[in-house]
Amino acid sequence: MNDIVDRWRAMDGTSLVMREMRPSDEARVKESLNKLSADARRNRFFVSIAEFSDAAVHRLVAIDPAREYLLVVLRRENDIDIPIAGGRFVHEDERPDCAFSLLVGDPWQGQGIGRRILKALIREASRRGLRRMYGHVLADNPRMLELARAQRFTIVESGQDKGVVLVDRQLPGRASQRWKDLVRCLWRR
Ligand SMILES: CC(C)(COP(=O)(O)OP(=O)(O)OC[C@H]1O[C@@H](n2cnc3c(N)ncnc32)[C@H](O)[C@@H]1OP(=O)(O)O)[C@@H](O)C(=O)NCCC(=O)NCCS
Repeated sequence: MNDIVDRWRAMDGTSLVMREMRPSDEARVKESLNKLSADARRNRFFVSIAEFSDAAVHRLVAIDPAREYLLVVLRRENDIDIPIAGGRFVHEDERPDCAFSLLVGDPWQGQGIGRRILKALIREASRRGLRRMYGHVLADNPRMLELARAQRFTIVESGQDKGVVLVDRQLPGRASQRWKDLVRCLWRR
């Protein structure tokens, strides 16, 4: 199955692979989610979640590929792929907009993994012809806000909850994305 999006080494030398999520990842995703700190859970899901149930994990992992894209970053330990991070976007059929979210496991934060996932989401959304990407972020989540700013999102009032802001950007058109893909491909040879 060729669903590998990226491979690189983490700061401590661990080999990491980014690929599309597979249904068979579900059990390991559950284990990883249940190891997250309270802060990471709140920053991603906006509520405190004591335990991720099978049903909750299934809802996160089982996607409709026509309107969703879900990436997972894995490290390999004793021949087992362990999820350490992930990201997704969801779009509605009729609108060229999509909503993204990111999650990096606590020990892996601050090493550029979130940035890599966000860039991969932007590339795929552009390839699908989507024109705008946005995400809801807690106003007291400086790391996500900094990451979004660095990726040219603007930060605006969400019009929802007081503690939630919207990060929003236009996406490159398909043609411009094809050029970027070509340059990226040549650069990596
Ligand atoms: C927010 C999150 C996705 C960021 O991913 P990450 O891998 O930790 O971030 P990165 O290492 O890719 O950092 C990217 C940028 O964020 C900023 N950043 C990183 N650490 C930071 C910190 N401690 N304080 C402020 N900004 C920080 C920097 O701009 C950094 O760019 P640089 O590498 O050029 O310095 C991750 O921390 C996370 O999953 N947190 C919990 C869940 C969450 O908040 N999800 C977001 C909801 S959509």
